Amino acid sequence: MPTATYQLRRGQLEEYFDRTAMEAWKRLTSDAPVSGIRATVRAGRDRMRATLLSWLPDDLRGRRILDAGCGTGALAVEAARRGADVVAIDLSPQLVQIARDRLPAGLAGTIDFRAGDMLDPGLGRFDHVVAMDSLIHYKAPDIVRVLAGLSARAGTSVLFTIAPRTPSLTLMHAVGRLLPRGDKAPAIEPVAPTRLVSLIARDTNLAGWSEGRTLRVNTGFYKSQAMELFTA
Ligand SMILES: C[S@@+](CC[C@H](N)C(=O)[O-])C[C@H]1O[C@@H](n2cnc3c(N)ncnc32)[C@H](O)[C@@H]1O
Repeated sequence: MPTATYQLRRGQLEEYFDRTAMEAWKRLTSDAPVSGIRATVRAGRDRMRATLLSWLPDDLRGRRILDAGCGTGALAVEAARRGADVVAIDLSPQLVQIARDRLPAGLAGTIDFRAGDMLDPGLGRFDHVVAMDSLIHYKAPDIVRVLAGLSARAGTSVLFTIAPRTPSLTLMHAVGRLLPRGDKAPAIEPVAPTRLVSLIARDTNLAGWSEGRTLRVNTGFYKSQAMELFTA
């Protein structure tokens, strides 16, 4: 049963990514020129995507992968290129349509694009679930609940990112809160990786899952930490 805080934030994220920020997100995730700040974000996101993909087996033939919060679909495409059978889901129908339009012709039929909630049980079971920057707007207890929901449908690993709570990020967010929020972006919810790991360890729904690799990407305005949960 999703919590009220999860449902509230999910509604805000759908509004934000499907309408307010849709054009900006489409541009950021394309080859079109972007400002210096956004270029650092694009470079960091490219590095993060490569990191998460490197934590999956090289040969993904016969593996089922969920791209949870797929946005415009770049990670799903790379997984499909390596042979995976991918379900890519996002709250924003418009971003999902962009992802469909961007699918290279040679990969037709390899990705099942859906608009909806990543926790939809109707999506079935997966070998690996990847949630790149799609949990960073949820509070830590909700992140753990989402991880429990995703891991219940994953056979091998759940890869995800968080906004790591660091002194510099806390300062950046504090300054951000003093400024008028022009684009009404839902707040990012930084969490210390150690706190998240201890919440995960205490959650009985995640018994049998262990913390694996972790790596922080910090390029200018992009700060995100990749984490891995795996089960034997
Ligand atoms: C920062 S974007 C990242 C998109 C993509 N993973 C990427 O890295 O390009 C976060 C995305 O997560 C999606 N999202 C957030 N919560 C979701 C949920 N509960 N179910 C499905 N998608 C969700 C948002 O709609 C948004 O498109």
